[in-house]
Amino acid sequence: MFRIFKKRKEVDVVVQKQRVENFIDVMKLLAYFKSETGIDFSKKEKIINTKLANFCRNRGFYNFESFLNNIKADKFLMQELIDYLTVNETYFYRELHQIEALVQKVKNSHTKVRILCIPSSSGEEPYSIAIALLEANIMKDKFEIIGIDINSEVIGRAKSAIYKSRSLYKLPPHVKEIYFNQKGEFYHLLEGIKKHVTFRVVNLFDDQFLSLGSFDYIFCRNMMIYFDEQTKLKAKSRLELIKKDSQSKIYFGHADN
Ligand SMILES: C[S@@+](CC[C@H](N)C(=O)[O-])C[C@H]1O[C@@H](n2cnc3c(N)ncnc32)[C@H](O)[C@@H]1O
Repeated sequence: MFRIFKKRKEVDVVVQKQRVENFIDVMKLLAYFKSETGIDFSKKEKIINTKLANFCRNRGFYNFESFLNNIKADKFLMQELIDYLTVNETYFYRELHQIEALVQKVKNSHTKVRILCIPSSSGEEPYSIAIALLEANIMKDKFEIIGIDINSEVIGRAKSAIYKSRSLYKLPPHVKEIYFNQKGEFYHLLEGIKKHVTFRVVNLFDDQFLSLGSFDYIFCRNMMIYFDEQTKLKAKSRLELIKKDSQSKIYFGHADN
């Protein structure tokens, strides 16, 4: 009886030891995250440390080192971390002047155009483009729009296309009226618009990105703001690779440079 009791105590000590928290050196984890996603949190070390410690604790990791070893081997855990850390703020008709410029270009084009939104976040930007093109009476067979984002959760939301009024505050009332069904506090985008955009979870820095084909127009707005200077250059050279030809254009957000 005494022996069993002693053994149990030893086990308890081991469990307790594993639970001793040591969330101190976050830099290696941040460096790995940056190498995979491009996103640089090094200047927000303190805030991110607390956020990451909570994330790890909730998943049974009590130090950054063991968590890092696990995300290197577990792509689902890495995806959860990406979904947790990325900032996905967006809304319909954001920086509308660029969308209007695109509409003119598509109007003047004699061939079908391919448009990429990277990052699409929860879909407001690519759907804004679809709405603006249809509002300008451009035939639906004249364009193809693809939205991609590294965050799988926002891509799920983009596919369902159900929004709160906060996302629609820039839309003129008649656009809200024509293209959405209001159900309580939610706005459901009509199927007729949803079908003009396809969405995929893709990381700009993964090989998969290059298999999307080439594009006439690329919207790359409000992603570079999370990258350092070196990563911005790398990102821009990857975007260059998927331009269809010398007429192709990339639209950046005003804060991206
Ligand atoms: C602030 S949102 C911008 C959304 C939209 N383009 C806009 O301007 O409203 C930034 C998005 O960039 C995505 N992102 C960050 N790094 C990425 C990467 N390496 N590849 C693809 N998407 C990325 C994030 O998941 C996030 O949804």
